[in-house]
Amino acid sequence: MKLFFYKTYLVLILLLCFFAIQTSVSQIKTDNQNPTVFIQNITPEKIEDNIEKILKNLTLEEKVAMCHAQSKFSTKGVPRLGIPEIWMSDGPHGVRAEISWDSWDYAGWTNDSITAFPALTCLAASFNPELSSQYGFSLGEEARYRKKDVLLGPGVNIYRTPMNGRNFEYMGEDPFLASTMVVPYIKGIQKNGVAACVKHFVLNNQEHWRDIINVEISDRALYEIYLPAFKAAVKEAGVWSLMGSYNKVRGQYACHNEMLNKILKTDWGFDGVVISDWSGAHTTRESALYGLDLEMGTGTDGLGTTTENHYQYYYLANPFLEALKKSEISESVVDDKVRRILRLMYRTNMNPNRPFGRMNNREHHDVARKIGVEGIVLLKNENNFFPIKDEKNITIAIIGENATRSMTAGGGSSELKPKFEVSPLEGLKQRYKNATLIHTMGYESGPSAYDKVISGKLNADSLKVKAVEFAKKADIVLFVGGLTKSHHQDSEGDDRLQYELPFGQVELLSEIQKVNKNIGMLLVTGNAVDMSWSGKVKGILQTWYLGSIAGHAIADVVSGDVNPSGKLPFSFPKKLEDNAAHSFGKLSYPGDGVNQYYKEDIFVGYRWHDTKKIAAQYAFGYGLSYTNFSLSNIKTDKNYYSENDLITISCDVNNTGSIDGAEVVQVYVGKPKSKVKRALKELKGFKKVHVNKEQSSSVSIKIPVSSLTFYDETISDWNLEKGEYIVYVGNTSNNISKKINITID
Ligand code: GLC
Repeated sequence: MKLFFYKTYLVLILLLCFFAIQTSVSQIKTDNQNPTVFIQNITPEKIEDNIEKILKNLTLEEKVAMCHAQSKFSTKGVPRLGIPEIWMSDGPHGVRAEISWDSWDYAGWTNDSITAFPALTCLAASFNPELSSQYGFSLGEEARYRKKDVLLGPGVNIYRTPMNGRNFEYMGEDPFLASTMVVPYIKGIQKNGVAACVKHFVLNNQEHWRDIINVEISDRALYEIYLPAFKAAVKEAGVWSLMGSYNKVRGQYACHNEMLNKILKTDWGFDGVVISDWSGAHTTRESALYGLDLEMGTGTDGLGTTTENHYQYYYLANPFLEALKKSEISESVVDDKVRRILRLMYRTNMNPNRPFGRMNNREHHDVARKIGVEGIVLLKNENNFFPIKDEKNITIAIIGENATRSMTAGGGSSELKPKFEVSPLEGLKQRYKNATLIHTMGYESGPSAYDKVISGKLNADSLKVKAVEFAKKADIVLFVGGLTKSHHQDSEGDDRLQYELPFGQVELLSEIQKVNKNIGMLLVTGNAVDMSWSGKVKGILQTWYLGSIAGHAIADVVSGDVNPSGKLPFSFPKKLEDNAAHSFGKLSYPGDGVNQYYKEDIFVGYRWHDTKKIAAQYAFGYGLSYTNFSLSNIKTDKNYYSENDLITISCDVNNTGSIDGAEVVQVYVGKPKSKVKRALKELKGFKKVHVNKEQSSSVSIKIPVSSLTFYDETISDWNLEKGEYIVYVGNTSNNISKKINITID
């Protein structure tokens, strides 16, 4: 009898084993038959479960392979499980032309010409968050169509010095403006199932020595000036990736830095991927333990004598694998990186519901043009020099290399290969059908020498002679000058060498002015320049780098088809020494080659000019219009507020002129008699409002009292100081229509 039970028991056990193997085999079989098992009918809550499931399926080698590049702009997926590669592309103003697998050379594709949108400085100058949303969505559509999963932008490094080569890629000197404008841009991109990658985190405020300089800075300046735009990108826009910067912060490289673990991932709860700048990683241990998730562009170009490419020598490649195998680094470290990478994938290339994108379509061109015309800033307009009518009997001489120079090329990683690029000259020619337009280059930008920059190959004199001759026979001169996007100009890799306009432009202006006083300057730059020549011209338009539709946007404003409404997102100091960073010697800028000290602390830009009473040539938030606006009926809803209140500022914007236009109401707040040093006032709210001629429009701006906190280093936290504040309401940081005293109790 006993034997019978044993036999039955044994058969049962064998049967159970058989079915267990059968199901797991069938499971693998279904997996094999249905490799996209990780992608189908995924709901957000299921994403985390699936990520855990995938993690259990991955070998250590596969996990490590996902944490570093496999080529210049891509990372390995897991072919065995149907997990795709991630493909990235620059940049903030458009999708960069395809780069080769292993080198910085362009791949020579013929299907990668795109729409070049205006530089982000122009977007910031529009002071129009709605346009930022359209910008991001359109750019995201183009990135999606080009099959890019990560777009390496926007850049939001604060404008600390006019010498920084990359200011044109960023959103100006004020953290509130940058924070407000970056959020809709990121949301717009990510609506396409493409990850934005906010950069460069953090304190990459110059290009000189960018990959070695160590920035020393107070917590207060770090939190109040340099972090806010990144915090808004994470907490308000939900950005899916972020790029560390090349420089060091407090002795540690920014691409693997305690700030990534503490501030970004713990305090702010960032659940996305930290990507290194290209070759911004420096050791395996630091990369592994200090917040870097995805190592790109390290040293090697992937080419070598062996067929095995060098990507396996990256810090987060073989050395990382070895350290994990020896348990020198816990496997939980690589798991966290892979979780973040997979989460980015479920939001992008493993999201079956994402749209397919579009490219070079009419809507994108219209968005680019709208941003261009709303970002152009009218700096001077003596005797209503602008707009210029298109009349039969007038001759307009268009002089300057920037009238025809391509400005989508150059500048570094943000350079683009547009389907087309309308130059200022072309745009003006198409718009002015009746007037006679004549053009000559006037000057040539040649190589930028290390002192006063000289003209290049062509004979500067013959260029000048011809320019003066053309000016003599014209009724109006439009001088299209500024900077270029070549080395030591507005470009990545190094800073400018001089504040003044280069290539003999100022001398040329003087010569022209002797024969024709009717000069308008179209300033094509992404930075402030010395404007001591401004008295020589009657009108000045700051026209930025406007991308594909540059010429049309410029012609729209020059002709008066559109009334300019841009406001400066950074100050134009009269002279370089008036700028805060340049007021504390070499150690403040550019540093001593090892360290650099942000001695101006929180007093960046207009905060410096206002507080030190140093008048700027043109102030932050400044911009004229072809019509006249006045603000009236300015008031706050109360005089006493508690910390959870919203301060409501209202006013009427009156268009007292004869042309429709738009004005930007700006609200600054300051605290006199504070227990800590403070700027006189800081931007805490703004609103752009379109008002037709002879009309008025009422505006209401709400400011949370909590946004008036200062970063208190004694408690390492934000602190709301009670007492009296002043609310400044105006249309420029130095043109305040009314000051209102309020009390926070
Ligand atoms: C560059 C830039 C960064 C860019 C990256 C890839 O060095 O600093 O903005 O996205 O490398 O080109």
